[in-house]
Amino acid sequence: MNSYLEMDRTSLENELNEVKLLLEEKIKQNIKLDMSRGKPGKEQLLLSSGLLTSVSEADQCFDGSIDARNYGVLAGLPSARALFADILDVSPSQVFVGGNASLQLMYDLISKAYTHGLLHSPAPWAMRGTVRFLCPSPGYDRHFKISQSFGMELIPVSMTPLGPDMDTVEQWIKDPSVLGMWCCPKYSNPDGIIYSNETIKRIASLHPAAPDFTVIWDNAYCVHEFDGDYVPFPDILSLCAENGNRDMVYEFTSTSKITFPGAGISCMASSEENIDYMTKLISVQIISYDKLNQLRHVLFLKDKAHVLELMKKHAEVLRPHFELVESILESEIKPLEIAHWTNPKGGYFISLYAMHGTAKRTLELCAKAGVTMTGAGATYPYGIDPFDSNIRIAPSLPSLEELRQATEILCLCLRHSALEQLLQTRM
Ligand SMILES: Cc1ncc(COP(=O)(O)O)c(C=O)c1O
Repeated sequence: MNSYLEMDRTSLENELNEVKLLLEEKIKQNIKLDMSRGKPGKEQLLLSSGLLTSVSEADQCFDGSIDARNYGVLAGLPSARALFADILDVSPSQVFVGGNASLQLMYDLISKAYTHGLLHSPAPWAMRGTVRFLCPSPGYDRHFKISQSFGMELIPVSMTPLGPDMDTVEQWIKDPSVLGMWCCPKYSNPDGIIYSNETIKRIASLHPAAPDFTVIWDNAYCVHEFDGDYVPFPDILSLCAENGNRDMVYEFTSTSKITFPGAGISCMASSEENIDYMTKLISVQIISYDKLNQLRHVLFLKDKAHVLELMKKHAEVLRPHFELVESILESEIKPLEIAHWTNPKGGYFISLYAMHGTAKRTLELCAKAGVTMTGAGATYPYGIDPFDSNIRIAPSLPSLEELRQATEILCLCLRHSALEQLLQTRM
C-alpha cells in the first residue's frame, strides 16, 4: 500500500470506493464490539477468584483485634493501609483506604475543597470566584468531568513524551485562581507516558500562588506493566515534603485493575496532616468503608512482591491484546501515513492520532459498523480535541478474535475518513 499523502485525486477516489465496499461488508455482519473502556477481560478477572473465598469463616474476620465486620476504623484496616503503603512506597500513616473506587475519593476531595476547603484554604473553593484547574491533555475523561461538574475552568496543558509541559504549568501556577492539577504519572491515560524524573521533580518543587494548590497524583497504573519488569517510581509524597510542599499532593490508586474493578479497594495517600484532616471530614458521611473487602484483599494480595507476581499473570493475558492491535495498525495504517500511535509497555490504552479533523468521523463510521470506542474528544477538557485527532483504544476487554475484527474495522474507518478529508482539500 502507498502513502495516501502522495496519491493523486483519481487514485484517492478509487481507493475510497474500495474502502466503502469493504466497510459495507463489515456492516452487514452485524458486529457488536466494545473497545471503549479499560476493563479487564474475563481471563483477567479469573486470576483473582481466590479473593472470593479468602475470608469464609467468622473467625477469619479479624485484623489483629479489629473485627472487620463491625463499624469503625474509618481510615482503613491497619493491614490494608500497610498493603497500599508497601505498593506506593509511603508509610501506612499516610494512607487512607476507601471503597471500591479511587475516583470516588478524588471526587470527594474536590467536593470537600468546595464545601469546607482544604488544610491551607483561606476559604472554601465555592467562595473563591473562578477556580482554574490544570488538565494535561490528552488525559483521563473522568478527571475532566469531575472538574467540569464543579464549574471549574479547565486549562489544557500539552502532554510531551516526558509528561505535562512544565513550562506552561510553571507559568499558570503564578495565578492564584489556579487551585490544582490532574496527573496520571505512570502509563498515563491515554498516552501510556511515564513522567520523567525531571518532570516529577519540577512538580514536587512548584511554588504556586494559591496556598491550597493541590496536585491530584492519580497513580492508577502504578504496578501495571504488561511488557517487561516492574518500573520503580519515585515517591511523590517525600519529594514534595523535601521541597517544602508536604500538603500539596494527594496520591490515589486502587486494586481495580489488580483484582476486580467492581469490587476492589482504593486508597488516598498524603501527608499525615492531610489524612487526619480528610478523615475528620469523611467521618461525617460514613462510619467505615467495607473492611471485610479490605481484609479479603490483604489475605489474597499479601504484599507488593505478591502483587507484582499477580501483575505478571495479567501481563501474560494483556500483552497479546496490545501486540495484536499494534501489528494490525502497523501493517494496515503505517504505510498510508494517515495516523501514528503509542506503543506503551503498561497501562490500559493505546493512544492513536488520526489525521487532523478526522477522529470524530472515524468513530462515527466505527459506530455504524458496530464498534464502540471512547467518544472523540473525550480525552480533552470539555470534550473538545482542538485537532479532532486523538482516538483512545482500549484493547483489554474483547477476546483476541473480537479485537482483530474491531481493529480491522477501525483501520477501514481511519482510511475512509482520511480519504474523504484528502479529497476535500485536493480539489
Ligand atoms: C487514570 C485512571 N484513574 C482512575 C480510574 C478509575 O479507578 P477506580 O476504579 O479506582 O475508580 C481509571 C480507570 O480507567 C483510570 O484510567
